[in-house]
Amino acid sequence: MSADIDVTVSAIRAVARDVLAIELRHKSGQALPGAAPGAHIEFALPNGLVRQYSLTDAQGKAHQDCYTIAVGWDANSRGGSHWIHERLRVGQALRVSAPRNLFAMDPAHRRVLLLAGGIGITPIVAMARHCAAAGLDWSLVACARSASRLAYLEELEALAGNRLRTHFDDEHGGPIDLSTLLAPRQWDAVYACGPAPMLDALTAMTSDWSTGSVRMERFKGAEVPAGERRVFELVLQRSGLETEVGTHESVLDAIERLGVSYPFSCREGICGTCEAPMLEGEAEHMDFVLDPAEKANHQRMMVCVSRCASSRLVLDI
Ligand code: FES
Repeated sequence: MSADIDVTVSAIRAVARDVLAIELRHKSGQALPGAAPGAHIEFALPNGLVRQYSLTDAQGKAHQDCYTIAVGWDANSRGGSHWIHERLRVGQALRVSAPRNLFAMDPAHRRVLLLAGGIGITPIVAMARHCAAAGLDWSLVACARSASRLAYLEELEALAGNRLRTHFDDEHGGPIDLSTLLAPRQWDAVYACGPAPMLDALTAMTSDWSTGSVRMERFKGAEVPAGERRVFELVLQRSGLETEVGTHESVLDAIERLGVSYPFSCREGICGTCEAPMLEGEAEHMDFVLDPAEKANHQRMMVCVSRCASSRLVLDI
């Protein structure tokens, strides 16, 4: 990660059951680079992990006093959630990246549906504040397993009033019916963040919507099942190196095996850090960074998850 801002934890507070909001300020008290709604920062934890967290307070200004993220307790955490909930304390020094935005709002969208599931509310909170401040025609549908688990519920009720619709699985006996929600098609765009089943369903139901009108941010990338992977030849043109990429490794694994240091962060196809220019080959894109047009032209790929559908992949590395 490009970790280049030294910050200190200035506050920690519970914003829902099992959800902590973490406020970070510059170590020397100066203003932090501003961020637009949808932006995230990378967070270098002292245990060596790097994680991406959406800024709940990104408001599109040139600078801001602090960064606020919200982190849910995840029983299946690979380390980030557990460390933050169990070890992080006020006053702790950390290093974060400058904000990055792969989930930016398009100013051309004036009628906007915001859809959040669980901890996916974090970028959506910032978007809701922006929609209210900009006077857009907007609605927010916020879903969670129960009311006690929806972060920022009180603030959203005050901000959104009757623009807010909540759905709690424990009261309705299951997840929200997206087909009913989407049927009116009254929005220019839907911005959604939540668990994979919700976003997969949204993707399927909006396949005929115009390009760019359905935007989402995922917590976790997709995967090609190991049984469907094929071996291919990898050439690193500038390095003058080549190898085979096996079925149980990623292109990034193979690059590292060749002794080449290449930037990465999430290793899940969601942050864009490992993007590599392609010179030859047909990428089998598995990331959630590139849009369909970018995927179709096979000029760039995320080497942490994407593979090659042809027998030879040449990268400009
Ligand atoms: S490292 Fe994040 S997309 Fe590859």
